[in-house]
Amino acid sequence: MQEMNDFTFQNTTDLRFGRNLIEDQLRDVITGFGNKVLFVYGGGSIKRSGLYDQVMRLLAGMDVIELAGVEPNPKIESVRAGQELAKQHDIDVILAIGGGSVIDAAKVIGSAKFYDGDPWDLVEDSAKRQTIGQVPLVDILTLSATGTEMNKGSVISNMAENKKLGTMGPNTPAVSFLDPANTLTVSKWQTAAGSIDIFSHLTEQYFDRAYTPVTDNMIEGLMRTVIANAPIALAHPDDYNARGALMFTSTTALNGLVSSGNENGWTVHPIEHELSAYYDITHGVGLGILTPRWMKQVLDETSQAKFAKLARNVWDIHEDDDMLAAKQAIQATYDWVKSLDVPTVLQDVNIPDNSNFQAMAESAVAVGNLDKVAYKKLTPADVVELFEASM
Ligand code: NZQ
Ligand code: ZN
Repeated sequence: MQEMNDFTFQNTTDLRFGRNLIEDQLRDVITGFGNKVLFVYGGGSIKRSGLYDQVMRLLAGMDVIELAGVEPNPKIESVRAGQELAKQHDIDVILAIGGGSVIDAAKVIGSAKFYDGDPWDLVEDSAKRQTIGQVPLVDILTLSATGTEMNKGSVISNMAENKKLGTMGPNTPAVSFLDPANTLTVSKWQTAAGSIDIFSHLTEQYFDRAYTPVTDNMIEGLMRTVIANAPIALAHPDDYNARGALMFTSTTALNGLVSSGNENGWTVHPIEHELSAYYDITHGVGLGILTPRWMKQVLDETSQAKFAKLARNVWDIHEDDDMLAAKQAIQATYDWVKSLDVPTVLQDVNIPDNSNFQAMAESAVAVGNLDKVAYKKLTPADVVELFEASM
């Protein structure tokens, strides 16, 4: 019998979930870190929702410097602009309000304040960030997807080099405000993409060779939660409880807890990041296209038992034969993605042909170490095959 692996788990983010907490607590939380605030946000959704006005009112009298316009798939240029402001104003704390892109950029800006070179160095080499400071980050999450609100990761794009890379800082956000009401305005497209992203984070951690009886059960419960609540949030965007379920699931899916004791690296994420690096597509939509195809690719005699467990415990498939149950689980995954009304082939996200497949596959294998640490090890040829199967 395989033994559970040793692990350590620590996560210090102070989560504040629910209505009214921002109004009552934001100012005290921010002043606890200082008076000079770099306020980072995206393309304007927080102005349309009223959150921007609320926050400016709450922070009245404080020294607030704004960095607006952080893009989806945040670009290194925004991080550079943030680095300059952070240094120039010697900021004490960063307040990031938005989805994963805004919060991811804010984390790297927090490190870049303490770095004199180009922040792209910090993205390419996370080790550099571990020995320098990081400005404390307070965030207000407005989109349930990435889990960035409770992890150390960021994903930053450098379009000039066709690179989209993950980087780990020394700290998780200091304080994250999770008010589901702030996600009621998220579009159907982003709601679907975010839900698929959550599901993908769970599959990346579920398909692992280690013996993980506790986290398997947690993951199955979280998967059922996202599967059930995504369609409700799509049909009823104002449903606070569906939005709340997605929000807490997104945080729990990627705060490190459910990978405790794992031993594999991730597969579909590094592959999707190549699609975004070359074509700037929505992360979760890319994952939705790739995930069922990846499942098909890795299903074999050795993995069928885990897929059958997924079938029975998550998709309520009652089939005694493991291989048949596994195939039904993969079909159910594909059908769920399709039911969320997002594209299911690469052509429909403006990837017209296979001209970049070889370069993307080689980069995915190199960045993700897919030939060494993946659940099922993949070569560049395997990844090209996965792309071809996604057309
Ligand atoms: O920019 P604004 O105007 O705010 O609009 C955003 C953006 O256009 C909009 N939006 C956000 N909240 C909204 C809203 N629109 C209406 N109402 C609201 N309440 O949604 C659009 C997409 O936002 P974005 O932040 O890009 O989405 P998401 O949260 O899905 O983040 C995706 C990024 O996170 C990375 C992805 O690769 C991608 O770059 N990831 C980060 C991870 C991490 N740090 O741990 C892990 C993930 O696997 C992922 O790779
Ligand atoms: Zn993701």
